[in-house]
Amino acid sequence: MNGSDTVVLAISLQKGGVGKTTTAINLGAALAELGFRTLIIDLDPQGNASSGLGIHPPDDAPTIADVLRREETLDSIVEPTAEKNLFVAPAPTGQMLAEVEAQLVAEMFPQPRLKDAIDAVRDDWDYILMDCPPTLGRLTVNAFMAADAILAPVQCQYFALEGLRDLSEVVKQVRAALNPDLEIAHYLLTMSEGTKKLSQEVESELRNAFGKKVFNAVIPYNVKLAEAPSMQHSVLKHASTSKGAKAYRAVAKELSNGRKAKTR
Ligand SMILES: Nc1ncnc2c1ncn2[C@@H]1O[C@H](COP(=O)(O)OP(=O)(O)O)[C@@H](O)[C@H]1O
Ligand SMILES: [Mg+2]
Repeated sequence: MNGSDTVVLAISLQKGGVGKTTTAINLGAALAELGFRTLIIDLDPQGNASSGLGIHPPDDAPTIADVLRREETLDSIVEPTAEKNLFVAPAPTGQMLAEVEAQLVAEMFPQPRLKDAIDAVRDDWDYILMDCPPTLGRLTVNAFMAADAILAPVQCQYFALEGLRDLSEVVKQVRAALNPDLEIAHYLLTMSEGTKKLSQEVESELRNAFGKKVFNAVIPYNVKLAEAPSMQHSVLKHASTSKGAKAYRAVAKELSNGRKAKTR
């Protein structure tokens, strides 16, 4: 990868509670800490990536819902966070994003609404991380059309690998019809209880199946990661020396792999 390329990742798995939002926030914060200008796009109607970083758009403020309607540019909705180099394109509070998704279903062919919005500002960023909802509906399809690749968080639990089969199936369909380059480029083990047999089994199964695409760093189960959103900060700011913070820093190092931030 060329040192100055922007990387656009969809953080996705069609299951709730596997660590997508936690990864968007904290991997984003760790990339920002390395000096990369990083944008988190909150595509989940729950808006947890926005609120977890202290961004609560007022009812009349433009959000990602307006970008998907092609009524606002991405630039015009981006908010700085309390962390240097880290920015959020917020989801609306309330039902608005779910309503927009319902409208998008009426399009016979999914339009690259988010992709067009990202392409217009792509060069301004080193990393763009999209926090996807736990469904494979039109919001996720928009993310998959815009993404260079998918990062799948895999919770160290029994049914983890089943979710991956469904995701791979959708990726195949998206490749055939909408984004020929899309792949699941990264797998991240989350909520690992390293000493437990089940965590070890899921880890070795994932590494056997996907090899180098699995980050060496594993995210441990760490209560600081669960606390941080209520403090409206990433874990790097909330508990900088915690195991959770260290693990997300290690993932950021692997992902960036020696590349340098763009000079601006
Ligand atoms: N490594 C972890 N250790 C402890 N708690 C975690 C960890 N990762 C996520 N959590 C907590 O688990 C819940 C689900 O995580 P979340 O990132 O919101 O999942 P998703 O976005 O996939 O639904 C949240 O309450 C979050 O704070
Ligand atoms: Mg989430």
